[in-house]
Amino acid sequence: MTDPREELGAIAREARTMLERERVRGRERVTFDADSAKASEVPPRPPGIAPAAALVLPGFETLVPQSLPTFGPPPSQLLATRDDLPDDLGTLARMVSECRKCGLCETRTNTVFADGSARARLVFIGEAPGRDEDLKGLPFVGRAGQLLDKMITAIDLKREEVYICNVLKCRPPENRTPAPDEVEQCLPYLEQQLALLKPALLCALGLSAVQALLKTKASMTSLRGRTFEYKGIPLIPTYHPAALLRNPGLKREAWEDLQRVRDTLRARTAS
Ligand code: URA
Repeated sequence: MTDPREELGAIAREARTMLERERVRGRERVTFDADSAKASEVPPRPPGIAPAAALVLPGFETLVPQSLPTFGPPPSQLLATRDDLPDDLGTLARMVSECRKCGLCETRTNTVFADGSARARLVFIGEAPGRDEDLKGLPFVGRAGQLLDKMITAIDLKREEVYICNVLKCRPPENRTPAPDEVEQCLPYLEQQLALLKPALLCALGLSAVQALLKTKASMTSLRGRTFEYKGIPLIPTYHPAALLRNPGLKREAWEDLQRVRDTLRARTAS
Protein backbone atom coordinates (compact mmCIF):
# COMPACT_ATOMS: atom_id res chain seq x y z
CA MET A 1 0.00 0.00 0.00
CA THR A 2 1.21 3.57 -0.73
CA ASP A 3 2.66 5.54 2.17
CA PRO A 4 0.03 8.26 2.94
CA ARG A 5 2.79 10.84 3.55
CA GLU A 6 4.28 10.14 0.12
CA GLU A 7 0.82 10.36 -1.39
CA LEU A 8 0.19 13.75 0.30
CA GLY A 9 3.58 14.98 -0.85
CA ALA A 10 2.78 13.98 -4.43
CA ILE A 11 -0.58 15.76 -4.27
CA ALA A 12 1.07 18.92 -2.94
CA ARG A 13 3.73 18.79 -5.66
CA GLU A 14 1.09 18.31 -8.32
CA ALA A 15 -0.98 21.19 -6.93
CA ARG A 16 2.08 23.48 -6.97
CA THR A 17 2.91 22.50 -10.56
CA MET A 18 -0.66 23.09 -11.69
CA LEU A 19 -0.85 26.44 -9.90
CA GLU A 20 2.37 27.56 -11.55
CA ARG A 21 1.11 26.38 -14.93
CA GLU A 22 -2.13 28.35 -14.49
CA ARG A 23 -0.19 31.43 -13.39
CA VAL A 24 2.03 31.28 -16.45
CA ARG A 25 -0.92 30.49 -18.71
CA GLY A 26 -2.78 33.46 -17.29
CA ARG A 27 0.12 35.80 -18.04
CA GLU A 28 0.41 34.55 -21.59
CA ARG A 29 -3.25 34.80 -22.37
CA VAL A 30 -4.01 38.18 -20.89
CA THR A 31 -2.72 41.12 -22.81
CA PHE A 32 -2.65 43.83 -20.15
CA ASP A 33 0.24 44.62 -17.95
CA ALA A 34 -1.00 44.45 -14.37
CA ASP A 35 -0.39 40.92 -13.10
CA SER A 36 -3.00 41.76 -10.55
CA ALA A 37 -5.65 42.14 -13.22
CA LYS A 38 -5.43 38.46 -14.08
CA ALA A 39 -4.87 37.46 -10.51
CA SER A 40 -7.83 39.58 -9.55
CA GLU A 41 -10.35 37.76 -11.65
CA VAL A 42 -12.87 36.82 -9.04
CA PRO A 43 -13.19 33.14 -8.15
CA PRO A 44 -16.69 31.75 -8.38
CA ARG A 45 -19.22 32.07 -5.60
CA PRO A 46 -20.50 28.53 -5.82
CA PRO A 47 -24.22 28.23 -5.06
CA GLY A 48 -26.79 30.29 -6.80
CA ILE A 49 -24.72 31.79 -9.60
CA ALA A 50 -25.11 30.72 -13.19
CA PRO A 51 -21.83 28.92 -13.90
CA ALA A 52 -20.40 31.39 -16.37
CA ALA A 53 -17.17 29.81 -17.53
CA ALA A 54 -15.26 33.06 -17.82
CA LEU A 55 -15.99 33.95 -14.20
CA VAL A 56 -13.60 31.29 -13.04
CA LEU A 57 -9.86 31.15 -13.30
CA PRO A 58 -9.20 27.92 -15.19
CA GLY A 59 -9.23 25.12 -12.66
CA PHE A 60 -9.31 27.56 -9.77
CA GLU A 61 -11.84 25.67 -7.69
CA THR A 62 -10.13 22.34 -7.84
CA LEU A 63 -6.62 23.72 -7.69
CA VAL A 64 -6.77 25.78 -4.58
CA PRO A 65 -7.63 23.92 -1.42
CA GLN A 66 -8.53 26.12 1.54
CA SER A 67 -5.08 25.83 3.09
CA LEU A 68 -3.19 27.15 0.06
CA PRO A 69 -2.89 30.92 -0.42
CA THR A 70 -5.62 32.31 -2.66
CA PHE A 71 -5.26 34.92 -5.37
CA GLY A 72 -6.43 38.47 -4.84
CA PRO A 73 -5.00 41.84 -3.95
CA PRO A 74 -2.82 42.06 -0.85
CA PRO A 75 -4.53 43.82 2.08
CA SER A 76 -2.69 47.07 1.27
CA GLN A 77 -4.58 47.21 -2.03
CA LEU A 78 -8.03 46.60 -0.59
CA LEU A 79 -10.61 49.37 -0.55
CA ALA A 80 -9.66 52.01 2.01
CA THR A 81 -10.43 55.70 2.35
CA ARG A 82 -7.66 58.17 1.64
CA ASP A 83 -6.49 60.48 4.39
CA ASP A 84 -5.97 63.38 2.01
CA LEU A 85 -9.66 63.61 1.01
CA PRO A 86 -12.87 64.20 3.00
CA ASP A 87 -14.35 61.12 4.62
CA ASP A 88 -17.97 61.91 3.81
CA LEU A 89 -19.59 62.12 0.40
CA GLY A 90 -21.16 65.56 0.91
CA THR A 91 -17.87 67.25 1.76
CA LEU A 92 -16.15 65.37 -1.04
CA ALA A 93 -18.80 66.60 -3.51
CA ARG A 94 -18.23 70.18 -2.33
CA MET A 95 -14.49 69.80 -2.77
CA VAL A 96 -15.04 68.46 -6.29
CA SER A 97 -17.31 71.42 -7.11
CA GLU A 98 -14.38 73.74 -6.37
CA CYS A 99 -11.70 71.61 -8.04
CA ARG A 100 -9.27 73.37 -10.37
CA LYS A 101 -6.71 70.59 -10.75
CA CYS A 102 -7.00 70.35 -14.54
CA GLY A 103 -7.99 72.53 -17.48
CA LEU A 104 -11.54 71.13 -17.62
CA CYS A 105 -12.53 73.52 -14.83
CA GLU A 106 -12.23 76.35 -17.36
CA THR A 107 -14.92 74.99 -19.67
CA ARG A 108 -17.35 73.23 -17.31
CA THR A 109 -20.76 74.59 -16.37
CA ASN A 110 -21.17 72.25 -13.40
CA THR A 111 -19.15 69.49 -11.87
CA VAL A 112 -20.97 66.15 -11.97
CA PHE A 113 -20.41 64.17 -8.79
CA ALA A 114 -23.01 61.39 -8.69
CA ASP A 115 -26.65 60.39 -8.61
CA GLY A 116 -28.52 57.64 -6.81
CA SER A 117 -28.32 56.14 -3.37
CA ALA A 118 -25.30 56.41 -1.07
CA ARG A 119 -26.47 53.06 0.36
CA ALA A 120 -26.41 51.36 -3.05
CA ARG A 121 -24.90 47.90 -3.36
CA LEU A 122 -24.27 48.43 -7.07
CA VAL A 123 -22.28 51.30 -8.59
CA PHE A 124 -22.23 52.16 -12.29
CA ILE A 125 -19.18 54.09 -13.43
CA GLY A 126 -19.13 55.94 -16.73
CA GLU A 127 -16.49 57.99 -18.50
CA ALA A 128 -17.26 61.70 -18.09
CA PRO A 129 -20.20 64.09 -18.21
CA GLY A 130 -21.57 65.05 -21.60
CA ARG A 131 -23.44 68.21 -22.54
CA ASP A 132 -26.70 67.40 -20.73
CA GLU A 133 -24.85 66.28 -17.63
CA ASP A 134 -22.67 69.40 -17.61
CA LEU A 135 -25.77 71.58 -17.78
CA LYS A 136 -27.68 69.70 -15.08
CA GLY A 137 -24.82 68.67 -12.80
CA LEU A 138 -26.05 65.06 -12.81
CA PRO A 139 -24.58 61.96 -14.49
CA PHE A 140 -26.29 60.08 -17.29
CA VAL A 141 -29.28 62.32 -17.90
CA GLY A 142 -29.01 62.55 -21.72
CA ARG A 143 -29.78 59.88 -24.32
CA ALA A 144 -27.14 57.50 -22.99
CA GLY A 145 -28.64 58.04 -19.54
CA GLN A 146 -32.09 57.07 -20.76
CA LEU A 147 -30.64 53.83 -22.08
CA LEU A 148 -28.79 53.28 -18.81
CA ASP A 149 -32.09 53.69 -16.96
CA LYS A 150 -33.56 50.94 -19.16
CA MET A 151 -30.54 48.73 -18.49
CA ILE A 152 -31.03 49.23 -14.75
CA THR A 153 -34.74 48.42 -15.03
CA ALA A 154 -33.89 45.29 -17.04
CA ILE A 155 -32.06 43.89 -14.03
CA ASP A 156 -35.01 44.64 -11.74
CA LEU A 157 -33.54 47.72 -10.10
CA LYS A 158 -34.47 51.39 -10.05
CA ARG A 159 -32.13 54.29 -10.73
CA GLU A 160 -32.67 55.49 -7.13
CA GLU A 161 -31.42 52.13 -5.83
CA VAL A 162 -28.02 52.25 -7.52
CA TYR A 163 -25.20 54.81 -7.47
CA ILE A 164 -24.07 56.38 -10.73
CA CYS A 165 -20.86 58.34 -11.23
CA ASN A 166 -18.02 58.91 -13.68
CA VAL A 167 -14.26 58.76 -13.84
CA LEU A 168 -14.12 62.48 -14.69
CA LYS A 169 -16.26 64.97 -12.83
CA CYS A 170 -16.08 67.66 -15.55
CA ARG A 171 -17.08 67.54 -19.19
CA PRO A 172 -14.25 67.31 -21.72
CA PRO A 173 -14.86 69.79 -24.57
CA GLU A 174 -16.83 68.23 -27.45
CA ASN A 175 -17.11 65.07 -25.34
CA ARG A 176 -13.61 64.01 -26.34
CA THR A 177 -12.00 61.03 -24.64
CA PRO A 178 -10.49 61.99 -21.27
CA ALA A 179 -6.76 62.76 -21.44
CA PRO A 180 -4.48 60.62 -19.23
CA ASP A 181 -3.55 63.58 -17.01
CA GLU A 182 -7.23 64.43 -16.48
CA VAL A 183 -7.90 60.86 -15.41
CA GLU A 184 -4.90 60.92 -13.11
CA GLN A 185 -6.05 64.16 -11.42
CA CYS A 186 -9.67 63.09 -11.08
CA LEU A 187 -9.36 59.40 -10.19
CA PRO A 188 -8.67 59.97 -6.47
CA TYR A 189 -12.17 61.46 -6.14
CA LEU A 190 -13.71 58.31 -7.62
CA GLU A 191 -11.49 56.12 -5.46
CA GLN A 192 -12.66 57.99 -2.37
CA GLN A 193 -16.30 57.74 -3.46
CA LEU A 194 -15.97 53.98 -3.81
CA ALA A 195 -14.12 53.61 -0.52
CA LEU A 196 -16.87 55.53 1.28
CA LEU A 197 -19.70 53.66 -0.45
CA LYS A 198 -18.20 50.19 0.00
CA PRO A 199 -20.53 48.69 -2.61
CA ALA A 200 -20.95 44.98 -3.27
CA LEU A 201 -20.39 45.31 -7.00
CA LEU A 202 -19.06 47.71 -9.63
CA CYS A 203 -20.17 47.88 -13.25
CA ALA A 204 -17.73 49.80 -15.45
CA LEU A 205 -19.51 51.36 -18.43
CA GLY A 206 -17.11 51.61 -21.35
CA LEU A 207 -13.41 51.38 -21.86
CA SER A 208 -12.38 54.59 -20.06
CA ALA A 209 -13.93 53.43 -16.80
CA VAL A 210 -12.63 49.89 -16.91
CA GLN A 211 -9.15 50.96 -18.02
CA ALA A 212 -8.91 53.61 -15.31
CA LEU A 213 -10.05 51.29 -12.53
CA LEU A 214 -8.11 48.19 -13.55
CA LYS A 215 -5.10 50.16 -14.78
CA THR A 216 -5.05 48.33 -18.06
CA LYS A 217 -4.85 49.18 -21.74
CA ALA A 218 -6.71 46.05 -22.84
CA SER A 219 -9.60 46.26 -25.29
CA MET A 220 -13.26 46.05 -24.36
CA THR A 221 -13.59 42.88 -26.42
CA SER A 222 -11.00 41.17 -24.25
CA LEU A 223 -12.37 42.55 -20.99
CA ARG A 224 -16.14 42.17 -21.20
CA GLY A 225 -17.80 38.88 -20.39
CA ARG A 226 -15.61 38.50 -17.31
CA THR A 227 -15.58 39.53 -13.68
CA PHE A 228 -12.54 41.36 -12.29
CA GLU A 229 -11.73 42.72 -8.90
CA TYR A 230 -11.14 46.34 -7.92
CA LYS A 231 -9.59 46.50 -4.45
CA GLY A 232 -11.56 43.47 -3.29
CA ILE A 233 -14.85 44.42 -5.01
CA PRO A 234 -16.03 42.48 -8.06
CA LEU A 235 -16.01 44.63 -11.17
CA ILE A 236 -17.93 43.74 -14.31
CA PRO A 237 -17.09 45.68 -17.49
CA THR A 238 -19.63 46.28 -20.20
CA TYR A 239 -20.20 48.56 -23.15
CA HIS A 240 -20.98 52.22 -22.57
CA PRO A 241 -24.65 52.99 -23.31
CA ALA A 242 -23.51 55.55 -25.90
CA ALA A 243 -21.68 52.74 -27.73
CA LEU A 244 -24.91 50.71 -27.65
CA LEU A 245 -26.78 53.64 -29.17
CA ARG A 246 -24.20 53.87 -31.94
CA ASN A 247 -24.04 50.13 -32.46
CA PRO A 248 -27.21 48.31 -31.38
CA GLY A 249 -25.61 45.03 -32.47
CA LEU A 250 -23.66 45.11 -29.19
CA LYS A 251 -26.83 44.95 -27.11
CA ARG A 252 -26.90 41.15 -26.99
CA GLU A 253 -23.49 41.05 -25.32
CA ALA A 254 -24.43 43.95 -23.06
CA TRP A 255 -27.48 41.99 -21.93
CA GLU A 256 -25.23 39.03 -21.08
CA ASP A 257 -23.07 41.38 -19.00
CA LEU A 258 -26.10 42.80 -17.26
CA GLN A 259 -27.32 39.33 -16.36
CA ARG A 260 -23.89 38.71 -14.88
CA VAL A 261 -24.28 41.95 -12.90
CA ARG A 262 -27.74 40.92 -11.68
CA ASP A 263 -26.67 37.40 -10.70
CA THR A 264 -23.43 38.49 -9.01
CA LEU A 265 -25.28 41.15 -7.05
CA ARG A 266 -27.96 38.69 -5.94
CA ALA A 267 -25.34 36.18 -4.86
CA ARG A 268 -23.38 38.81 -2.92
CA THR A 269 -26.44 40.28 -1.30
CA ALA A 270 -27.70 36.82 -0.29
CA SER A 271 -24.46 35.79 1.38
N1 URA B 1 -21.49 59.48 -20.60
C1 URA B 1 -20.81 59.21 -19.48
O1 URA B 1 -19.82 58.48 -19.49
N2 URA B 1 -21.23 59.76 -18.35
C2 URA B 1 -22.29 60.52 -18.27
O2 URA B 1 -22.61 60.98 -17.19
C3 URA B 1 -22.99 60.79 -19.45
C4 URA B 1 -22.59 60.25 -20.61
